[in-house]
Amino acid sequence: MTLSTSFRSPHIDQKVAGLLEQMTLEEKIGQLVQFSSGNATGPDNAKVDQAELAAQGGIGSVLNLVGARETNALQRCAMEKSRLGIPILFSRDIIHGFRTIYPIPLAMSATWDADIAEQCARMAAVEGTAHGIRWTFSPMMDIARDARWGRISEGNGEDPWLGQVLAAAWVRGYQGQDLSDPLSMVACAKHFVAYGGAEGGRDYNTVDVSDRVLREIYLPPFKAAIDAGVGTFMSAFNTVQSVPASADVRMLTGVLRDEWGFQGFVVSDWNSIGELIPHGYALKGEDAALKALIAGVDMDMQSNLYITKLSGLVESGRLKVEVIDEAVRRVLRIKFALGLFENPYTDESREAAVTLKPEWLALAQKAAEESFVLLKNEGAGDGKPVLPLQSGQTVALIGALADSAKDMLGSWALSGVPGDVTTLRQSLESRLGDKLIYARGVGVHEEGTDGIAAAVEAATRADVVVIALGETSDMSGEATSRTRLSLPGKQLELLQAVVATGKPVVLVLFNGRPLTIPWEAEHVPAILEAWLPGTQAGPALVRALYGEYNPSGKLTTTFPRTVGQIPLYYNCERTGRPRPGGDRFITGYIDESHLPLYPFGWGLSYTSFEYSPTRFSSEAEVRVSDLNHGGSIQVEATVKNTGSREGAEVAQCYIGLRGTSVVRPVRELKGFQKVLLQPGESRKVTFSLTSKELAFWNIDMQFIAEPCELTVWIAPHAQAGEPAKMIIEA
Ligand code: NOJ
Repeated sequence: MTLSTSFRSPHIDQKVAGLLEQMTLEEKIGQLVQFSSGNATGPDNAKVDQAELAAQGGIGSVLNLVGARETNALQRCAMEKSRLGIPILFSRDIIHGFRTIYPIPLAMSATWDADIAEQCARMAAVEGTAHGIRWTFSPMMDIARDARWGRISEGNGEDPWLGQVLAAAWVRGYQGQDLSDPLSMVACAKHFVAYGGAEGGRDYNTVDVSDRVLREIYLPPFKAAIDAGVGTFMSAFNTVQSVPASADVRMLTGVLRDEWGFQGFVVSDWNSIGELIPHGYALKGEDAALKALIAGVDMDMQSNLYITKLSGLVESGRLKVEVIDEAVRRVLRIKFALGLFENPYTDESREAAVTLKPEWLALAQKAAEESFVLLKNEGAGDGKPVLPLQSGQTVALIGALADSAKDMLGSWALSGVPGDVTTLRQSLESRLGDKLIYARGVGVHEEGTDGIAAAVEAATRADVVVIALGETSDMSGEATSRTRLSLPGKQLELLQAVVATGKPVVLVLFNGRPLTIPWEAEHVPAILEAWLPGTQAGPALVRALYGEYNPSGKLTTTFPRTVGQIPLYYNCERTGRPRPGGDRFITGYIDESHLPLYPFGWGLSYTSFEYSPTRFSSEAEVRVSDLNHGGSIQVEATVKNTGSREGAEVAQCYIGLRGTSVVRPVRELKGFQKVLLQPGESRKVTFSLTSKELAFWNIDMQFIAEPCELTVWIAPHAQAGEPAKMIIEA
């Protein structure tokens, strides 16, 4: 039984019906409103006395009130003073940890490890619930193909297959086996839908998306979240095919409820109901509230419109009370499923016991290690790769980010505390003592170059340089779109001066999105992508730099060479003039390669892996009718560790279809396996391709497999692999 059916049990329905019968219109509307206690991420137009409102039964949910004592105090107003004693649902953006901060979601996706994502979400739930929160606005599952969009950092990357696997894992972790467990919190699938498609990568911008792209790219992770039992959804800010997502009946009711059978409730994004007016979709507050509720937005986050307009709409006859009743039922179902009626308060003794526990720190460190992507590792003249570092070397550590605790946390680390973070500088210092020379160089946003000379001097005194550059924490996340994706400020100048010393250099990148680093990729021998790693940044990095952890992360977003190549993603549709082809009249640019700097799936290791050619396990003929009736195709390859260290490799299975009723992408990821191999060890990896992997939305928008030529690559990244081909017969 999935959780989605558990919050729709006859038992819960009966309780909801009994309560609904007793509620006044005002009390019903109260369940549909949510107000914030701080951390405004938009206009703060709902200033209410929450305690007074709670005592009247007029507030369904509060966001951003934190602490067992604080939430209990407000809960008491609702439970003890209001007529019906309906508990408040406390919520917060617990996006990558509550107090123990693990890497940002984009980094977590680079682990390609659903288990660690689930464990991290569980840790966040246990910590967060101790502080009174039973609802998190996570996971964000917006597919993002544009690195200019700062919120690419909050999701699982550009691929819908990986996005589905991870969306489900996050939901399982937060919600646990049983939503009524006081250590569980209800998850929120956001932002429904296609928010990641913002034109120009500009946050909140219009999204122009076809039905096909919606179905194939943006919707699948949301469906996977429902299958994993997610209890709530958040409607997005953007328009979808010219309708604001927060009033889109086709999506919120047509797809979500009627087609997918979602039984939980939908909350708007912050003031996204109010924003129907600037969109020009509603003329005034009444219209906005009416359109959003009728479309299927059950709870209003902070626009103040449901609370002020819904009763008037009912009185004037424009809104049937049954529509309100249905929304209230959905909200109450989740409150009953969470066990809030029996257990409305948080045990105040839990906070200290579960916060920053050693085992949480160990998990956050493991996650950070797994998320690092070794982009490059070559020799600096002597042919021997610069990484891992050798013990005994004197190390010059350069860069402001190496010593910036707050910049390790990433956006939305709302309850994260910089003082909890161990930085790269601290960890290297405790390992190396006076064999470490630190020079700050230049700050990320500074225009002055005075610090460069001291950094160069430090480099000349060392055997090897580790230079930490990138973005500050506040450069990714909401409302952080960028038009330039190179290293900000004078960091490249600093790097160039350090590289010019001739010392071996390791570039550690801290950033929340792909950056354009063509000079760096050409001139720096070793580059480790560390993202924004969280509380345990330092210890995780030191282990990776010294080879005590062998990097195994793989990119989940393409790294472009220049901003001008964007959008650039691996699963693009085939063109009629592909490369390689003729000399000139083929798709590409006259001033830049059409290829990425680092492709989707890319990531090196301190060992090396060799893949055998891909092959089908059987030569038997395959018919499409068999596939559409449960048949499958087995495909395999052997991965061998050809180096001298143990290492983990993410073997990726891609398909390509030709001869179909619509043009298909050049490749699509349809599976992956992470294998740990000893030096010299080989392992056969096998993937089963069923209609789930081979079906697509055909010319008639039916999701089925078609007769075609199938190509399969089992490969280390999206541009590699020796393929196998077969014909799938009619
Ligand atoms: C706006 C953001 O878009 C959303 O992701 C977040 O959950 C809400 N604000 C609440 O903070």
